[in-house]
Amino acid sequence: MEQTFLMVKPDGVQRSLVGEIVSRFEKKGLQLVGAKLMMVSKELAERHYAEHKGKPFYEPLIEFITSGPVFAMVWQGDQVIALARSVIGKTNAVEAAPGTIRADFAVHTNFNLIHGSDSVESAQREIGIFFDPAEMVPYEHTI
Ligand code: CMP
Repeated sequence: MEQTFLMVKPDGVQRSLVGEIVSRFEKKGLQLVGAKLMMVSKELAERHYAEHKGKPFYEPLIEFITSGPVFAMVWQGDQVIALARSVIGKTNAVEAAPGTIRADFAVHTNFNLIHGSDSVESAQREIGIFFDPAEMVPYEHTI
C-alpha cells in the first residue's frame, strides 16, 4: 500500500481550511493514517525543502513554512501519491485545474495551501522526517 506525506501549510491553517482540505481526501477514498498540528522548526524546514536550497524562492519558503502551525498528515491508498496531487492541483494556482484545492482556494504560488509528496522516494523521506512510526495507526481495510 502506497503512502504519501501531505501538509496543510500555515496559510491553510490560518484560513481555517484544514477541515475542508481533509474532507476532500476522505471523500476521494484515501485513508488517513497519521495527523498532527505542529510548528515546523527551521531545521526541519531546511531538511524538508533541501532540494530547493539555492533557488530564488527558498528563503521565503523557509520563512513562510516556519511562520505558523501546519497540519501534517500521512495518507495511504493505491497510487495515493498521484491521486493526492490530482486533488491538490498544480503548484501555480493559475495553472491548477478547476475543482482542485489550489484552483478553488489559492491565488499565489508561495501561499498554495498544501504540500504533497511528488514521488515514492520523497514520500518515504518526508514521512520519515515528520513522523515517528508510533504516530501512525497500523489499521488496514479495503477501500
Ligand atoms: P511545495 O509543494 O510545498 O514545494 C515547494 C514549494 O515552493 C512549492 O510548494 C511552493 O509553495 C514554493 N514555490 C515558490 N515558487 C516556486 C516555483 N517557482 N516552483 C516551485 N515551487 C515554488
